[in-house]
Amino acid sequence: MCGIVGYIGHRDAWEIIIKGLKRLEYRGYDSAGVALVNGEMNIYKKAGKVNDLERFAENEELSGSLGMGHTRWATHGAPSDRNAHPHLSGSQKLAIVHNGIIENYAAIKEMLVQKGHTFLSDTDTEVLIKLIEQIQMEGESDLREAVRVALTHVTGAFAIVILSKEEPDLLIAARKGSPMVIGIGEHEYFVASDASPIVEYTKQVYYPDDNVLVFLNRENMEIRDLANLKITPYIQELELELEALEKGGYEHFMLKEIHEQPRSIANCMRGRIHAEEARINLGGISEYANKFLQAQRIIIVSCGTSWHAGLVGEYLIEEYARIPVEVEYASEFRYRNPIIGKDDIVIAISQSGETADTMAAVELAKKAGATIFGICNVVGSSIPRLSHAGMYTHAGPEIGVASTKAFTAQVTALSLLALYIAKHKGSLPSSRIATLLAELQKTPDLITSCLKSEPLVQLIASEIKDSTNCLFLGRGINFPVALEGALKLKEISYIHAEGYPAAEMKHGPIALIDEQMPVVVIATKDSSYEKIISNIQEVKARKGKIIAIVTEGDTVIRDIADYIIEIPFCEEALTPILATIPLQLLSYHIAVMRGCNVDQPRNLAKSVTVE
Ligand code: F6R
Repeated sequence: MCGIVGYIGHRDAWEIIIKGLKRLEYRGYDSAGVALVNGEMNIYKKAGKVNDLERFAENEELSGSLGMGHTRWATHGAPSDRNAHPHLSGSQKLAIVHNGIIENYAAIKEMLVQKGHTFLSDTDTEVLIKLIEQIQMEGESDLREAVRVALTHVTGAFAIVILSKEEPDLLIAARKGSPMVIGIGEHEYFVASDASPIVEYTKQVYYPDDNVLVFLNRENMEIRDLANLKITPYIQELELELEALEKGGYEHFMLKEIHEQPRSIANCMRGRIHAEEARINLGGISEYANKFLQAQRIIIVSCGTSWHAGLVGEYLIEEYARIPVEVEYASEFRYRNPIIGKDDIVIAISQSGETADTMAAVELAKKAGATIFGICNVVGSSIPRLSHAGMYTHAGPEIGVASTKAFTAQVTALSLLALYIAKHKGSLPSSRIATLLAELQKTPDLITSCLKSEPLVQLIASEIKDSTNCLFLGRGINFPVALEGALKLKEISYIHAEGYPAAEMKHGPIALIDEQMPVVVIATKDSSYEKIISNIQEVKARKGKIIAIVTEGDTVIRDIADYIIEIPFCEEALTPILATIPLQLLSYHIAVMRGCNVDQPRNLAKSVTVE
């Protein structure tokens, strides 16, 4: 959470920083600020969005080819002008922007207060910049050394950029636990939380490891670790394309990302499937393939939507590969002294690859000797780097805060993984694997058919948009789809929604059903079909408004439900991918009709890098 951008070079830093902050706004959007060095140090910061900051500063002095900016998701201190970054040192010569949390800030602050420092904000970040200045004063050390020493005193996570009014050719960046990428241009360098602010200027990037300091001037980059040892950077070519970061004619990123799913699923499968030979090619697993074949247990750790994908993964891996699977909220797993053995495989699922709880769960499992398999979307992010093996979902940048294409790509990746293990273990005949792979390859086209239901979904959205509650029901492999449908609706439209296994409804939630309650049921023709019809009848008997996701051509549920949305027939194991599409569209259109900010729902941020 929080996005940071830094620039040193020959261009107008303000333009680059503001554009970059807008691309990073998905990471937090409660306040924004910029510092520019041009003889003086000018700081502009404001509660609100980056647009508010732009308006605020439009008549100000904005020149300078050295600067940094920040878009904030509040942790310590409410969203306000004074808590917005950048923060200044006591002498006002140094400025900092920070993403992460300094856990021991209170103790450091107390020490600094005793030494006479006063504080202008409630943030942990201001403590760090004042500590740096204090170290500089006490040791008469230069800024680079003072930053290094200060960082050896702090615990927690940080990605920081630091500027000094007195050093017009120096930008310092450092990270531990929070993401950062350095862009390398001609006589210029960029720093950002992800590559989106950088891609239009350069494709040469360096992802610093934890506990690394980067010293940038216009001609040179020097990298050191916290022990002051020099590090040689590994410079990579960015694969990201600029158009992936733009709305491409859609009103919102979320709608664009929903419509991108035929392509994102195809990209997830690209080069990995040889259906006729029943072969799956997963380059990132090869060294650890035997671990999967011998595994007595797989534990999946993740959060939110990725946790829902994990629940689908549980069905797939148990069904195909016959290995017991436990799916854990990473935030619970990490704090309950879990039993982890050397033969366990821990699969971490994360779109961003930087969710703090998932990372902590991975670190814990790794220490206990488990093999870590990461399923992530953001290339070069922290979880893939912590993992022994893994696969990228290749869904492309997901900018809408509510996850859509990342979820279906995660389920696709888990399907491939489950079939890969099944193939190598021999737990499923090759002919069946070949059939399933061929069916999986059809999903991009089937998603295109699902998207055609959008006008009908809009009509249904207009009927239920004023509801205060909504229930989502599913059984078996579609129970996680019900959970995901409910999460999508509540997070972007602020309608209270619950996902339930359909059979559990009668153990409590049925009390809620009356004519005001929309009940969305995933009722495709699968092994639970007959049972779910009974559940629909139970809702009908209590006058609930039934919206059923059914298999094309279903005539039985058509007669019972108030509305049906058809999806094409597919293998049961693949229904979560298809059934999710109309639910995403339903949430999207309801939220738009209610006037909600779909891409940036209140209180949320795209990557949750705090626990
Ligand atoms: C919901 C959503 C969140 C994320 C969760 C985990 O639409 O996006 O629930 O799924 O914060 O994030 P990642 O997958 O980045 O670990």
